[in-house]
Amino acid sequence: IGSKPLSGQRVLVTAGGTVERIDPVRYITNDSSGKMGFAIAEVARDRGAEVTLVCGRTEAAPPNGVNVVHTDSALRMRDEVMRRLDGTDIVIKAAAVADYRPASRADQKIKKSSDSLTLELVRNPDILQEVGEWREARGSGPFIVGFAAETADVEKHALDKLARKKCDLIVANNVSEAGAGFGTETNIVSVYGRGDFFEHLPQMTKRAVAERLLDIVKDARKGLANR
Ligand code: PMT
Repeated sequence: IGSKPLSGQRVLVTAGGTVERIDPVRYITNDSSGKMGFAIAEVARDRGAEVTLVCGRTEAAPPNGVNVVHTDSALRMRDEVMRRLDGTDIVIKAAAVADYRPASRADQKIKKSSDSLTLELVRNPDILQEVGEWREARGSGPFIVGFAAETADVEKHALDKLARKKCDLIVANNVSEAGAGFGTETNIVSVYGRGDFFEHLPQMTKRAVAERLLDIVKDARKGLANR
């Protein structure tokens, strides 16, 4: 009695959107509120895990009882995630990371001059993929869960991300569906895993999605251990 299912486990969750600065007063971001990642962090905390929550820009305050690391850009989020991987048991990446950032950040506010302005963007590192490659190179490491925010061909893109980003599970949400995705209190997800694992979760609160997801993670880790 008294021991919780995730006691002694270290869980790292990312949440929110990254912020890619253009100049001191302008930036590129997205609609992630942080709610999905916060719900996962809360459930992991309630199940006894030691939780680190690496946040980008979020709407509400992060939950109590977890270690919160505030970041802004994808580059900073990458550094904060990578330096914590050693000793982490489960990584869950619910953050919406910008795929591109401005090629340079102006030191001063950009002034109006001509009728058009071209902003050059460069690719950001793919943090989830780097986590997968880190584990592969090392031969051991955390159980890795990625998300996939899609608007079409959800299954195809989710399976592609599962393989390419070398994760154990991908949680796909069709962010154009009502009641799913960015900013909402609920989500509708499909979970894809290795060995043809598939489970669809109909519309439910993000807390309920987080609870079921952590049950799936538990079973999948047991499966890996028994192999
Ligand atoms: O925060 P909420 O308002 O509650 O909204 C929740 C959510 C819609 C943001 C969440 O459910 C979700 O889908 N998060 C992932 C958003 C996303 O960036 O999806 P993606 O398909 O572009 O990326 C796939 C995965 O790779 C994600 O785990 C993402 O964190 C990761 N990624 C993406 C790009 C990048 N450069 N680095 C990454 O690590």
